[in-house]
This record gives sequence, C-alpha cells and structure tokens, in this order.
Amino acid sequence: MERVNPLAQAVYSVVLTRRDVRSQFTGEPIDPQVLGRILQGAHSAPSVGMSQPWDFILVDDVGQRETFRDHVLSERQIFLESLDPTRRETFLGIRIEGILESSLGIVVTYDPSRGSPAVLGRHAIADAGLYSVCLAIENLWLCAQAESIGVGWVSFYREEFLAELVGLPAGVRPVAWLCIGPVSHFEATPDLERLNWQSRRPILPHVARGRYGEHDGLFDIVTLPQ
Ligand SMILES: Cc1cc2nc3c(=O)[nH]c(=O)nc-3n(C[C@H](O)[C@H](O)[C@H](O)COP(=O)(O)O)c2cc1C
Repeated sequence: MERVNPLAQAVYSVVLTRRDVRSQFTGEPIDPQVLGRILQGAHSAPSVGMSQPWDFILVDDVGQRETFRDHVLSERQIFLESLDPTRRETFLGIRIEGILESSLGIVVTYDPSRGSPAVLGRHAIADAGLYSVCLAIENLWLCAQAESIGVGWVSFYREEFLAELVGLPAGVRPVAWLCIGPVSHFEATPDLERLNWQSRRPILPHVARGRYGEHDGLFDIVTLPQ
C-alpha cells in the first residue's frame, strides 16, 4: 500500500476509529482543557457566509438529563411500535443513547438569524445554515476522537421538547444532543453493524461521473491506512 504522510495518517486514523458511543461511557469527568480544545475545534468548522450559526449548551444537571432521557425512551417506544416483528426483535437489542452514563450532554443549536439578512451563500439554499451546524458537530466528533473522548449523537426527540428543556429562544433549533465523555474503549465496528441492523455500503456504487448513477469504474478503490 502506498505510504501516506504522518498528518494524513493521523487524520485517517481518527476518521476510521471514530465511533458513535452509547454503552462504553465511564462517567468520569472530562478534563476542562480537553473539553475546551474540542469545543474550539467544533467552532473552527466551515460555515456558510462565515455565519457560525451554532451554539453549544453544556448540560451536566442530572435532573435535566433524566427529563431528557425519559422523553428519548418514550420516542424509542414510538419507533419500536412502528417496526415489523423481525425488525422489532433486532431493535430491542440496540441501545440508542448514553444520556445518563456519559459525563456531559451537549445540545448543539442552529440560529438562522446569525449573520442575517445577507448570509453570503445562503440566498438560494436555506439549508446551508443547517449544513454548517452539522460540520461543527463532525469537527467536534473528530476532535473528541483524537482526544480519546467518546461521542454519541441522540436524535430520538421532538425539537419542541428539547428547545423548551434548554430554553431556546424562538427560531433557534436544536440540531443534536451529544452524549460525551471518557470511554472504556471504542468498538472497531459500528453498533448498528455488530447488532445486525444496518451495514456500511461499499463506496463504488456511490461515485458517479457527470450524471447521477453513471458509474464508469474509473474510481480506484483504496483501503484507508489505519
Ligand atoms: C444525524 C444523526 C443522528 C443520529 N441519531 C442517533 C440516535 O438517536 N441514537 C443512536 O444510537 N445513534 C445515532 N446516530 C449514530 C449512528 O447510528 C451512527 O453514526 C451509525 O450507525 C454509524 O456508526 P459509527 O458512527 O459508529 O460509525 C446518529 C447519527 C447521526 C449522523
């Protein structure tokens, strides 16, 4: 395999070892310096028109977290009841959150009024603001991984519920609840794959040239260095 430079090697290693964590949180506190670096990393993400439309709300209060967890479990139940019997059986074995076991919850929000009205690059695509928040979340996730800190994204909630819980002003949307903290270990394989819910697809059918779905086979499959 072709050798890559050490920086690329480090980046690929973080990308490949990153996991969504639900069960491996130790509950130990996060070193404030480490948390500060991770948040700065998130805040360095690209954003449409440099609008940086995100905020990070740190939730350590146990009562607030218990309230959120109860809500998440009721949404889990709603999803469970929507499944056919086979899928239901598989889903029953899957954890979808580590809200109380993690050290901290971080609610990441989107404020469409940030930098408005003339957000450069958003006049035709309103969602570009939301994309920017997702990039901040991915930055956070990768920085945390580089610091050996686990992150789990929870989306089993109603936006109005979470907005109320953390006091969001009108118009500001919650985009994610992230469970974050030290972990015992990182699994090598995503939980959803290990537990037979969904597997990662190979890349080749998802690379086209010129027009959607037109695969000319010219893309070389490579294995990333770990
Ligand atoms: C937008 C988004 C929402 C997600 N919501 C949840 C969730 O509610 N519960 C959960 O356990 N995992 C959630 N995940 C994590 C995915 O299940 C996970 O990223 C995927 O299975 C691949 O595993 P990996 O991140 O370990 O590679 C979410 C991920 C994303 C990007």
